[in-house]
Amino acid sequence: LIAFFQPKLLRGQRVLVTAGPTYEAIDPVRGITNRSSGKMGFAIARAAREAGADVTLVAGPVHLPTPRGVRRMDVRSAQEMQRAVESEVLHASVFVATAAVADWRPASVAEQKIKKDGSGKPPALDFVENDDILAGVAQSSRAKSGALYCVGFAAESHELLAHAQAKRVRKGVPLLVGNIGPATFGQDDNALLLVDERGTKELSRADKLNLARQLVTEIALRLTK
Ligand code: CTP
Ligand code: CA
Repeated sequence: LIAFFQPKLLRGQRVLVTAGPTYEAIDPVRGITNRSSGKMGFAIARAAREAGADVTLVAGPVHLPTPRGVRRMDVRSAQEMQRAVESEVLHASVFVATAAVADWRPASVAEQKIKKDGSGKPPALDFVENDDILAGVAQSSRAKSGALYCVGFAAESHELLAHAQAKRVRKGVPLLVGNIGPATFGQDDNALLLVDERGTKELSRADKLNLARQLVTEIALRLTK
C-alpha cells in the first residue's frame, strides 16, 4: 500500500546493490566469513524497486527471498562479488554497497581438506587483503563525473560518527551510512546515521524496510541536486 502511494522517486534510475557477507574458502570444507544477514541490503533493493528503479542485487551467501522485480546475482567470495560489480556497475546510476565484504582471504586455497597432522599444532594460515570494491567504484570516471552516485555503509563497534566521517572521505563517496549500534546483525530493526558533505542526519530506530524506504528517499533527493 505504501509502495503504491509513494511517488516513484527513482524512476529511470538503475540501482546496483551489494548485500550479505562474502565467504573466503580455506579448503573445500572450511572458510572464513563475516556476520551479516543481508537484510538491510535486500530491503534497500526492494525499496529502490518500489521507487521505480531498475534494480540489480549482488548477494553473498544468504538465505533470503529475492525482492519482487529485482534482478539477483549470487556470489560467494569477495573476488566474485568484485567481478560482478565491475561489470554491472557500468550500467548503473546509483551504487549502494551494504555488503560485509571479507577484508582478507586465505593466500591460497587448499585443494583437499586440510587434515590434522597429529602434532596438536594448528596449521598456519596466510591472508591477503581483498580489494576495496566500493573505493574502486568510487574512483571510476563515471562516479567522479556524477553519472554514478555511490553510497557506502559502515558497521562500527565504537566511535561511529568519527569513523563514518573518516570512511566517507577515505572511500571518496558522497554518502556514508552508519549502523547505529548495538550490533544489528540479523535483527529486523536498526537505526542509521547518514553522513554527507553537509553534515549528519539520523534515521531513528525502525524496521529495516522502513529505514530502507527512508534511505531511498534521501538518496533520490541527493540525485536531483
Ligand atoms: N567494502 C567494499 N569492499 C571491501 C570492503 C568494504 O566494497 N573489500 C565496502 C562495504 O560494502 C561498505 C564499506 O566499504 O559499504 C565500508 O566497509 P567497512 O568494512 O566498514 O570498511 P573498511 O574499509 O573495510 O574498514 P574496516 O573494516 O577496517 O573498518
Ligand atoms: Ca571491512
